[in-house]
Amino acid sequence: MTHPEKESPAGSAPVKRVYIETYGCQMNVYDSDRMRDVLAPLGYARADAPDEADLVVLNTCHIREKATEKVYSELGRLRAHKDRRAETGQATTIVVAGCVAQAEGEEIMRRAPVVDFVVGPQAYHKLPELIARTARATGDRIDATFEPEEKFDALPAPRAEGPTAFLSVQEGCDKFCTFCVVPYTRGAEYSRPVDQIVAEAKALAAQGVRELTLLGQNVNAYHGKDGGGAETSLARLLRLLARIEGVERLRYTTSHPVEMTEELIALHGDEPKLMPYLHLPVQSGSSRVLKAMNRKHTAEEYLAIVEKLRAARPDLALSTDFIVGFPGETEKDFEDTLALVRAVGFASAFSFKYSRRPGTPASGMHGQVEEDVKTDRLARLQSLLSCQQRGFNDRQIGQTLPVLVAERGRKPGQVLGKSPYLQSVHFEGDAGLIGQIVPVRIIDASQNSLTGAA
Ligand code: SAH
Ligand code: SF4
Ligand code: F3S
Repeated sequence: MTHPEKESPAGSAPVKRVYIETYGCQMNVYDSDRMRDVLAPLGYARADAPDEADLVVLNTCHIREKATEKVYSELGRLRAHKDRRAETGQATTIVVAGCVAQAEGEEIMRRAPVVDFVVGPQAYHKLPELIARTARATGDRIDATFEPEEKFDALPAPRAEGPTAFLSVQEGCDKFCTFCVVPYTRGAEYSRPVDQIVAEAKALAAQGVRELTLLGQNVNAYHGKDGGGAETSLARLLRLLARIEGVERLRYTTSHPVEMTEELIALHGDEPKLMPYLHLPVQSGSSRVLKAMNRKHTAEEYLAIVEKLRAARPDLALSTDFIVGFPGETEKDFEDTLALVRAVGFASAFSFKYSRRPGTPASGMHGQVEEDVKTDRLARLQSLLSCQQRGFNDRQIGQTLPVLVAERGRKPGQVLGKSPYLQSVHFEGDAGLIGQIVPVRIIDASQNSLTGAA
């Protein structure tokens, strides 16, 4: 039985549909888009819900226990979809990709027979091969190999969706913070070659992309080779990308404080296309805890970097990540964190309770903190951080900001865009403004967004 909406216009090969559910960080968002690019030549169009899809991919995150648990509960729901579709003769292929796939491939296959195969974050360029193999019921059903170079060589040209785009420039991490799974799930640090990145940026700009966000777990440690084989810093890469016609705005994330070089700090003052917003995770304001985390810097050193950044670019807005309740964290350590927050003044921040991750050094440390203590500290920290975020947003009222209009707003006649400080701004405007940078007077602010009048 064929479904009318599944027939291609020419009535030839039926259109297949893929639904990708993305968890975790921006690198996974980028990877999900690239998986769609890899699948497009096989005839897969985008599905909006899993029950319309012939292929469902869960692109997973392993960073905290909760993120991992979500995958198994979602697989339970997908089993019901698969059974329901099977009743009408439709097959559904279920794939687990991303960091849980890398870390727990065998366990997934054992615990969730609904899964057809598992593919790690460095192997998804082989999706077509894995799909064919599964259809033939031959070969391995887990591909968790680390081949970032081969992956980036194999990926097709990206398809842009709207005026902003992510561009992965660096993969993996060699920092081994004692709480973190990323060095195990994403492998060793790898920087893509400069020419490949420039080509991808040009292809995106030609499709109307105006703002590029360069991605890497440790993006400021970027040291890819240029055409002549010389190592290139992130600052130099950003300078090259700023020259591409059509690229009006540049951002990069996530940075490690110890890789914040003088050259990169200076670029924040010199390069107008580099947006005045930086995500610079600090994790804790206690130098003792930072040492146990293996972050390789003290709280004072972090504050000194912030000072230099603000000297280079006085209006720089900062965002960060915190972990509360790291093993051994005392009330005094936590108060040092609150003091650091007060000293810096963040425009936004993410904060998490420490989650014990199997195989990481911190999971075996003495002094694990009680859950109720973590809950209490997280609430106190978040209340301070949300006050700062609200204050930062309120201070924009009355200013005129250049807003890159990205999409239609939720209400008719409205559009939605981003300020240089990465705030969402909605205002009355025509959809024809999408893709343009327009001056918008800010007339109101809330916790999470700004209201403007063009
Ligand atoms: N590469 C980035 C972070 C990647 S993970 C960096 O170096 O900062 C994103 C955030 O998740 C981290 O900054 C940290 O705050 C949080 N995180 C990582 N592991 C965690 C764990 N075991 N428990 C709680 N939060 C964690
Ligand atoms: Fe994880 Fe630390 Fe690497 Fe960030 S720098 S990805 S927190 S190990
Ligand atoms: Fe999660 Fe993997 Fe990103 S563990 S945060 S999806 S690198």
